[in-house]
Amino acid sequence: MDKQKKAGRYSRIYKQLEELTSKPGTPLSRMATIAAVLHHKMDHFFWTGFYLLEDERLIVGPYQGPVACQELESGKGVCWAAVIRDTAVIVPDVTQFPGHIACDARSQSEITLPVKDKNGNCRAVLDVDSGEKGQFDEVDQQHLDAIIKLIYI
Ligand code: SME
Repeated sequence: MDKQKKAGRYSRIYKQLEELTSKPGTPLSRMATIAAVLHHKMDHFFWTGFYLLEDERLIVGPYQGPVACQELESGKGVCWAAVIRDTAVIVPDVTQFPGHIACDARSQSEITLPVKDKNGNCRAVLDVDSGEKGQFDEVDQQHLDAIIKLIYI
């Protein structure tokens, strides 16, 4: 998808999510809504979901797509990289990322972003995988970053 088309789609998704997440709920229910909307509106999203950071462990949270790893080995992989680096991580080719955890061999590119609460503490990671290489760029980073700010309100 070209960048302009992608940005337009993200803007429409953001408006929908803004409304949906303004209804009574919890961070967990908002994560579930975000995963469902993103996954069904973005054709190239193969796996869309959250890993929850609890007691220094990353445990799977709400997601859409094929069944995923229940827990991610500490300090390893793209999700932990987002926590450790405290910023989004874009991986154009997962085979080139040392320590990448392949929950599903069909996943080929990936973006992860730390999800923070109001105090700036990391509480989860948003992880999106694509079945094709090179699917994520700064447009995804910018828009997904805005979307995850709807979780801890
Ligand atoms: N690839 C991730 C693991 C989670 S799955 O992609 C759903 C990682 O390396 O952390």
